[in-house]
Amino acid sequence: MDFPATRLRRLRSTAAMRSLVRETHLPPGALIYPLFLCEGEGVRREVSSMPGVFNLSIDEAVKEAEACAALGLGGLLLFGIPDEKDEVGSGAYAAGGIVQRGLRAIKAIRAAESLVVIADVCLCEYTSHGHCGVVARDGDHYEIENDSSVALLAKTAASLAEAGADIVAPSDMMDGRIAAIRQALDEAGKPSTPILSYASKFASAFYGPFREAAGSAPQFGDRRTYQMDGANLREAMREIAQDIAEGADMLLMKPAMPYLDVIREARNRFDLPMGAYQVSGEYAMLNAAFERGWLEPERAMLESLLSIRRAGADFIVTYFAKDAAALL
Ligand code: PBG
Repeated sequence: MDFPATRLRRLRSTAAMRSLVRETHLPPGALIYPLFLCEGEGVRREVSSMPGVFNLSIDEAVKEAEACAALGLGGLLLFGIPDEKDEVGSGAYAAGGIVQRGLRAIKAIRAAESLVVIADVCLCEYTSHGHCGVVARDGDHYEIENDSSVALLAKTAASLAEAGADIVAPSDMMDGRIAAIRQALDEAGKPSTPILSYASKFASAFYGPFREAAGSAPQFGDRRTYQMDGANLREAMREIAQDIAEGADMLLMKPAMPYLDVIREARNRFDLPMGAYQVSGEYAMLNAAFERGWLEPERAMLESLLSIRRAGADFIVTYFAKDAAALL
């Protein structure tokens, strides 16, 4: 029916009316907060390009986990910043690795019962060269080897599950890693640990601040031979289908705001639970505008998160998780 019988403004007249007809919601339980674990005690080192985000020693991370549980967040995503790195990222799969110890500490507290503790699975924070896999060099030429990297990623996932991770989340983009991780988890007696696959992770400039936070910038080259080309939507769907075929339980789309169309397309095509990662550069960019008074922090933050939910994400990994939950 046309105007004047139809007046869409009728349902916008009051806050109560708008609330009643709101289509998309943002429950705190749908928010996952990333934590960067480092060695030491009492360490809270702010990341310069990410105001309010810290490298935390395990004791501080435990306090942070308590605060997140009190806010009703859905969970945590753990990253590690080891003191020592090597060519093959040994710290990623060491039983005494930084995230393995962090997991044991966080899982031991009562508050953690309400949180899903997810461990990121990747080698880039642990390799001296900063790549997400094993580097084979031949003179000036180098290659990030797929299959040898997959073996180490599978080992990493099993080690994180053994240390108590509720979910393992591979973010490396090697081919075949989901099947290898599934097999490694099963063999390690962890058949019930789900895999949250960053199935179609794009090579993105928006990861810049994270690499400062995690000290994981590649020392040479870039990640374009393994992470996806931002131009490719159909290829993203192939990546996702492949990971589902290999046994992924859930999907994590990344980045979020510059790729909302990819999230929507994935939501339309696949029925797996799906999250999206509002990455470091998205957070940094909004914060830069907040600092200058160019955007209203609370409204812009919630609108950015809502856009990601509206695109089809069930849950959101975001550095705003605590701030947003405090408002919701
Ligand atoms: C590790 C990893 C990265 C991010 C999540 N896992 C960095 C990268 O791929 O370079 C980025 C997260 C963010 O930017 O907030 N591979």
